[in-house]
Amino acid sequence: MADNDLESLFSRLGRFPDVEAANLQAWDATDKLLLDTAVELPATGFLHPGSRLAIVGDRYGALTLGALALRAASTAGTAGPAGATPDPANTLTGPVRVHQDVITGERALRHNAGRLGVTGGFEQFPFGAGLLSGATLVLLQLPKSLAELEETADAIARHSHPDVVVLAGGRVKHMSLGMNAVLERHFGEVQPQRARQKSRILLARRPRPATGAAPFPIAVDNTELGLTVCARGAVFAGTGLDIGTRFLLEFLPRMPPARHAVDLGCGTGIIAAMYARRNPGSRVTATDQSAAAVDSARATAEANGLDAQITVLQDDAMGLLPAGDADLILLNPPFHVGAAVHAGAGLKLIEAAGRVLAPGGELWTVFNSHLHYQPALQRLIGPTREVGRNPKFTVTASTRKSAEL
Ligand SMILES: C[S@@+](CC[C@H](N)C(=O)[O-])C[C@H]1O[C@@H](n2cnc3c(N)ncnc32)[C@H](O)[C@@H]1O
Repeated sequence: MADNDLESLFSRLGRFPDVEAANLQAWDATDKLLLDTAVELPATGFLHPGSRLAIVGDRYGALTLGALALRAASTAGTAGPAGATPDPANTLTGPVRVHQDVITGERALRHNAGRLGVTGGFEQFPFGAGLLSGATLVLLQLPKSLAELEETADAIARHSHPDVVVLAGGRVKHMSLGMNAVLERHFGEVQPQRARQKSRILLARRPRPATGAAPFPIAVDNTELGLTVCARGAVFAGTGLDIGTRFLLEFLPRMPPARHAVDLGCGTGIIAAMYARRNPGSRVTATDQSAAAVDSARATAEANGLDAQITVLQDDAMGLLPAGDADLILLNPPFHVGAAVHAGAGLKLIEAAGRVLAPGGELWTVFNSHLHYQPALQRLIGPTREVGRNPKFTVTASTRKSAEL
C-alpha cells in the first residue's frame, strides 16, 4: 500500500460526532508514523501471521482503519514485510482490538468504518484484560497525563504476551522524559525512535512481571471536602480538586434542591457526590463522555456510600437523557477538544443543558472569567445571573426559559 493511499484514507475520516471545525482534524502524523513503524517491525509487525494487535487511544479510528487497510493490501499482495505470509481470513491474527476512552471516539470509529465500507475486522473493548490479553503488538497514542500512561503501561505489562512490542507515539512537543521513565517502570527495554514530522515513537518491550493488584482507580481522602475521591489515570484533575470546581462548590448551599440533578462532565464525580450528600432527597446523575471518568465517578459514589442516590452514565453531552428531564445541572465545562483549546466543547454542553433542563430549571456553571460565556448562556438557556466572582473564575446561574417565552 503506497504512502499516499494511507493519507488518502485518512483524509476521508471525520471526527463526527465530536466537535468538528476547520482547524481540527481526525488524524495526525503520529498515526501514520505508528502504522509505518508497525509494518516495518521485523518478525513482530502486525502483518505477520500470529500477530495479535491491540490499539489504545485511537482518536477517531485512523489507527484501526489504517491497520485494517494495510492488512487488506498485504493479503492482496501489494504490500507487507519481506518474508511474511499473508493471512487472508485474519484467522491467525484475529480481529484488531481497540480501546478509546471517549465515547465520541468510539462512535467516530464506527461512523468512519461505515463511510469506508469496512464491515468487520475490529472489536471495541473497555480498558482491561479483554483488550490486551495475549497481544503481541500494542499501538498507543501517548496520553496527555503520566497517570494515564502509568495505568496503560501497567495493564499492557500485566495482560499482554511476554513478547509484546509496544509502540507508543506522540507529538514531540507533548512528550516528556517522564514518559520514558513511566515505560521503564513496566518494561525492561525502552528505545526512543527517530522523530518524523514532529512525531516520535517510544518502543518498549520485555514487560516486567506485575506485582500486586492493578493500581487504579486510586482512592484518596480529601480532608477539605471530607470526601474519598477515586480516580483512574485518564480522569480530569486525578484525585485532586480543580480550583474552578472548588469555587463552584462554595455555592452549594445556595443551589436549589432538585428532583433530578445532573453533574454534567462529572470527571471523578466530586460535584455529584457533594451535591448528593447535601440534598439526600435528590436523584443525581453523574455523566461524562470518558470511560475513565465514569469508572472514577462510580467508585467515588461507592466509596462515600452514595451509590444508591447517584446514577453514573457514559454519554456524549447527555444525548441519552430526554428533553426536560432535569431541574438542575451543575457544570465545570471543558475547554479542550483533545490537545487543542477550543470553546466548542463547553458550548456543546451548554447547548445540551438547554435541551435537558425542564422549564424553570437551572444551570449552575463556573468558568474562567475571560471566556465570556454569558451571551451563550443567555441565548441557549435563559436569564443568567452572576452569583460569584473571584480573581480567576465566575459562577453563574441560568434559568431555563419556558417554551412559550
Ligand atoms: C473541566 S472537567 C470537569 C470534571 C469534574 N466535573 C470536576 O469538576 O472535576 C470537564 C469534563 O467534561 C467532560 N466532557 C467533555 N466533553 C463532554 C461531552 N461532550 N459529554 C460529556 N462529558 C464531556 C470531560 O471528559 C471532563 O471530565
